Amino acid sequence: MAAPTGAAPDGGSLIRTLPGHAYSTPESFAREQERIFEALWFCALRSADLAAPGAFRTVPIGRENVLVVRNTAGELRAFLNVCSHRGTRLCTEESGTVRRTLRCPYHSWSYDLDGSLVAAPHLARMPQLDRGAHGLRPVALREWLGYAWLCLADRPPSFDTEVRGAVTGRLGDGAAIDHYRVDTLALGRRIRYDVRANWKLLIENFMECYHCPTIHPELVAVLPEFGGGYAAQTGVGRGVAFAEEARGFTVDGGEGFGRLPEIADHQDRRYFAITVRPQVFINLVPDHVIVHRMFPYAYDGTVIECDWLYAPEVIASGADTGRSVELFHRVNEQDFAVCERTQPGMASRAYRAGGVLVPAERHIGEFHSWVTGMLADPPGPPDPTDGPEGPG
Ligand SMILES: [Fe+2]
Repeated sequence: MAAPTGAAPDGGSLIRTLPGHAYSTPESFAREQERIFEALWFCALRSADLAAPGAFRTVPIGRENVLVVRNTAGELRAFLNVCSHRGTRLCTEESGTVRRTLRCPYHSWSYDLDGSLVAAPHLARMPQLDRGAHGLRPVALREWLGYAWLCLADRPPSFDTEVRGAVTGRLGDGAAIDHYRVDTLALGRRIRYDVRANWKLLIENFMECYHCPTIHPELVAVLPEFGGGYAAQTGVGRGVAFAEEARGFTVDGGEGFGRLPEIADHQDRRYFAITVRPQVFINLVPDHVIVHRMFPYAYDGTVIECDWLYAPEVIASGADTGRSVELFHRVNEQDFAVCERTQPGMASRAYRAGGVLVPAERHIGEFHSWVTGMLADPPGPPDPTDGPEGPG
């Protein structure tokens, strides 16, 4: 991929985006699957979605399919969804529950919920078979903020640096996210969107607010600063203040719910947005938290699961979260529509060299540099035909 950034020919206020092919070819997407989604921590599911032992969910990550299950001890385990016998996909459903074992539907090899091979037809006639060597292939798993984060890399990068570090880097304080007690919140609403756009367009859109005055009237009414077109993500620790007349983060600025009990005064009546690369957005407001997880499945297709999380007593009381959910649902629909409208242009000859970023979008250039760096080949051994030692 060509180097993304550099001054565009206007004297320096604009910088170049990635070229169009980075958004519009199966080849570029395949490389991202390998170098980004199979290499980094991927926020797969909400831990509470798998409540009881035997509950499982299958999650596409990169080119793999991962099976996440709660074991009999109540812990989450993740495996590649591949039978060690003949390679059959063990679970084809997106979610479900098994009793005690995961049984392959082809030859009935069965694994316990920790991935060990426990039974197979004619096993007694194969005394030399080392069961320990034929378990399911484990996948690294960490739980944080009430979500299970998976990593397919043989040597996963530091979770603290890559995931917690991204949140701390945005909020400026490692404890700031803890005040929201995200892991204790209850799911009020989940909406799944299938967006016909490249995942990078969605990240770029989330990172900037140059478009806010044009397409987000309801959001700008609650967060008037966004009417100026500058994003919340440009300043460390900076939250965006609610409009004086807004009583809550709701579609009409009406009353929301009580402030989450542990948030600090400087977090009250403010909105914070965080991007955790490569596929998570976290939105913090005083009475709820919104988490987007992206599941890119093609160069021009991304499923997004968006969770609205509230204090457990709000959900238990049966309170109507409708106007609260509606604000960001509308933002999502507005954003996803423009991303879908942008996607075809990525393959146009008009966009072959890419477009430009204005100063209000400048920080997206850093994202582009990060993508380019992730996709670059690591420096290999020196070419023996190079330099004065080579044959001449
Ligand atoms: Fe937006």
